[in-house]
Amino acid sequence: MTEILDLPADATAAETPQSTAPRRKLFIKSYGCQMNAYDAQKMSDLLAPAGFDETQSLDDADLVILNTCHIRERASEKTFSELGKVREVKLARRADGLATQIVVAGCVAQAEGSEILRRQKAVDLVVGPQNYHRLPDLLRRAETAPVIDTEFPVEDKFDFLVKAPRRITQARGVTAFVTVQEGCDKFCTFCVVPYTRGTEVSRPVEKIVAEIEDLADAGVREITLLGQNVNAYHGEGPDGRTWSLAKLCARLAEVPGIARLRYTTSHPNDMDDDLIAAHRDLPALMPFLHLPVQSGSDTILTAMNRKHNRESYREIVRRLRVARPDIALSSDFIVGFPGESDADFAATLDLIREIGFASTFFFKYSPRLGTPGADMDAQVPEDVKAARLIELQDLVETQRRAFNQSLVGRTLAVLFEKTGRHAGQIAGRSPYLQPVQVDASDTMIGRVAPVEITGVGPNSLFGRLIPREAERL
Ligand code: SAH
Ligand code: SF4
Ligand code: F3S
Repeated sequence: MTEILDLPADATAAETPQSTAPRRKLFIKSYGCQMNAYDAQKMSDLLAPAGFDETQSLDDADLVILNTCHIRERASEKTFSELGKVREVKLARRADGLATQIVVAGCVAQAEGSEILRRQKAVDLVVGPQNYHRLPDLLRRAETAPVIDTEFPVEDKFDFLVKAPRRITQARGVTAFVTVQEGCDKFCTFCVVPYTRGTEVSRPVEKIVAEIEDLADAGVREITLLGQNVNAYHGEGPDGRTWSLAKLCARLAEVPGIARLRYTTSHPNDMDDDLIAAHRDLPALMPFLHLPVQSGSDTILTAMNRKHNRESYREIVRRLRVARPDIALSSDFIVGFPGESDADFAATLDLIREIGFASTFFFKYSPRLGTPGADMDAQVPEDVKAARLIELQDLVETQRRAFNQSLVGRTLAVLFEKTGRHAGQIAGRSPYLQPVQVDASDTMIGRVAPVEITGVGPNSLFGRLIPREAERL
């Protein structure tokens, strides 16, 4: 097995000449968070000049990339069950005289490294989230022997990524993700992310602006800025100073064509005054914020090393609501963290009732090897976790429905994204990310227009386009 450590910069994708060989097919599947989805697009973009076109069919693929997630045990194990299926395809194709390369990328690659090759011998390449800019070269090397590249590199991968051709960006639609910050220094005691993504790094403002100008030029109207701790963003500005996320958002709101900005995921402690004020001052910043609190119990928040408490979270929410009265919130919760008593869990339910979330993500605590939580005493039994999860689910589902129902009769700005389920229908998103179905011409796709909400379905809202009202752009 060849272990690839530091490759010279000239061995990377940006330098890869356009291949004259016949084009090959790439099947790429991404798990986990939006940053993984962004990374998958970037991998596809940088493999295009090396001769690969994406396919949706695994059976046709000359190259299969699983872009994996390590956050919970189930996510991580999925990698290995999927690899079993991919191996079958590789063997079937081999019988037909066709070669298939299998790549494991993403956070399982980073965390498990050589263990992946041990458990699944059909894998050709294991590449971490900070190393995928070297893919074309790594794939060439992996033709002779399996390769692992998970060392955190000295160079910045973003400097080696390739811009997607305009037609590809257009095909991806009118919304896009852009990573502005990566990694995490917070070390919550349940979480693997600081180990899989490395320390916090922010991209320089000018590079982000350039990427977003290109996207806007190809018709993208809404950008979601991504980071594991996106509101801790502190990138170098064009003036040589450090810019905050608030300042970055103000600059990005000026990019012609960009109608909407979002950012995710935020940590409560990095919700500074400027960012709260930006929610008041920047109409492009959508009034919907994912601000995970994880638990409503101070005892558990301390054990989680969240470095905020229940009261400081409530205070941030209060200030956000003063700055932007129509703001809605979503959060993540973990149930059954070690030591969580009935009273701690009741405090979580109580906080949820008090804040009122538009949507909520909730997870049973999953002990992750190498994180402090996994070694804590008083692990909560599975059946207790499961019962708490159901109770929490009922509450947040009730809140979600109530929030959706509260929008009936209101007029919301909708960004239209695609044709709808039925002829004559188009689908868009509200400021609160709900899908909205409207009877209107598909010439509206890519535009923001006011819609009166007339009804609520299980997973979307229905509305009526308000004619002749001024559009925001
Ligand atoms: N950076 C984000 C979280 C990324 S992980 C933040 O700080 O909020 C997404 C969510 O997965 C977390 O918010 C947490 O709720 C959940 N999660 C992380 N580790 C987990 C674990 N070991 N078990 C269960 N849920 C976990
Ligand atoms: Fe994980 Fe905590 Fe960092 Fe979020 S802030 S990525 S939960 S360690
Ligand atoms: Fe999963 Fe890694 Fe994202 S662990 S949630 S893919 S940062």
